[in-house]
Amino acid sequence: MRVGVLGVGHVGLVTAACMADFGHDVIGYDDDGHKIAALRAGDMPFYEPDLDRLVADNVSTGRLRFSGDAVEALSDREVVFICVGTPSREDGSPNLAYVQAAAQAVAAHARGPVVVAEKSTVPVRTGERIRQALALESQARQGTAHHEVVSNPEFLREGSAVEDTLRPDRIVVGADSTNAHEVMRRVYTPQLERHDCPYVETDVKTAELIKHASNAFLATKISFINAVARVCELTGADVETVADAMGHDPRIGRAFLNAGIGYGGSCFPKDVEAFVHIAAELGYDFGLLRETQRINREAKVWPVHQLRRLLWNLQDKEIAVLGVAFKPGTDDIRDAPALDVIDALEADGASVRLHDPVALDQVRGRFARAELYEDAREALRGAHAVVTCTEWDEYRKIEPEQLAELLAYPVVVDGRNVWDPAALEAANLRVASVGTPF
Ligand code: UGA
Repeated sequence: MRVGVLGVGHVGLVTAACMADFGHDVIGYDDDGHKIAALRAGDMPFYEPDLDRLVADNVSTGRLRFSGDAVEALSDREVVFICVGTPSREDGSPNLAYVQAAAQAVAAHARGPVVVAEKSTVPVRTGERIRQALALESQARQGTAHHEVVSNPEFLREGSAVEDTLRPDRIVVGADSTNAHEVMRRVYTPQLERHDCPYVETDVKTAELIKHASNAFLATKISFINAVARVCELTGADVETVADAMGHDPRIGRAFLNAGIGYGGSCFPKDVEAFVHIAAELGYDFGLLRETQRINREAKVWPVHQLRRLLWNLQDKEIAVLGVAFKPGTDDIRDAPALDVIDALEADGASVRLHDPVALDQVRGRFARAELYEDAREALRGAHAVVTCTEWDEYRKIEPEQLAELLAYPVVVDGRNVWDPAALEAANLRVASVGTPF
């Protein structure tokens, strides 16, 4: 099939590469000329495991092309996936101007009927607005094509985006006509032949809601275990054992019960905020999600409270911060909890010595005083304390004895429970681990 992907950011580029890999003829379009030029030169705009190989393989067969020319990219497509950004406005509502512009671009350039599939995470009822934008633009141009709108939310995680897209847990397609459902089934048949998974067909509004409900639920699961961690710290219980034992119940499941310094990234914070906002607009106060957000804000300042407890004043203390990416496997720092930790440390007058294996370039020049280290052990050498903010595997390889040797003061605040607290204590380190008694 002839597939267009409008917006080649994280979701768009992965979608384009995977659709091409399933055998479709794919054009990735973006109005950011630099991004298109870089992709044509074989450069990835961000770090994502396996994506460079998948893009290169499919470009070499000719199934995947990139274009900054809307006419070339959109005139003959049967399906166009909208994968543009939906940044938050100040009041927490998502800014859908790019989604509208994308719909207008499709209607302006398509020569025949197109199925427009929203992949960007959008509030329920955005499909209706896209349909309206398509119709208005077509009419203004005396077009006769009847474009249809589909909601086809994306559930990929950064760091495993390719794997999640090639082998998803489920595919959700919301459409309001038989024709649109048939077109989408043709899009996904090659994928389902390779990897069978539940294929949920529903209406547009339900599909839109599935995405927000899924992300809000996962964020709530994280905040729940972070709240349990606070109680564990106060009672002397161990949160990891609590989570493991809870996880044996298949109704609960162990995934997303890792206590830590909170959720970040480009999705959970923004989507929870948007869901609260949409519900309120519709007349429902989603208090549960507001509490999820409160617990997350509290989780992000936990390391700084622990450092103040262990070191008293942080003024002029050298603090090694390990990890700035919002999670391992990505160089993305959007809404990363580490940013709040570093800002708070600098506000207290501490000097931050920051290490991250892949994300340092993203923070150059962002902080007043933080020094950036390519080598984690160098960041640790002579520091008065260490705080872990991202659980990169390489940190687990640093032995507690070596930590004790490198640090000037034996103080470890393990925000992601990278190390076994008992092993740290055995090496005479003073330790604060999330959800274990101090
Ligand atoms: C999330 C969802 O997991 C995807 O299903 C969804 O498609 C995506 O958002 C999206 O809407 O596009 P992502 O933001 O890439 O994916 O990252 P996650 O792996 O979900 O992690 C989010 C945050 O939660 C990270 O900061 C991570 O450190 C934190 N987290 C995760 C915890 O603190 N504890 C856990 O147990 C799991």
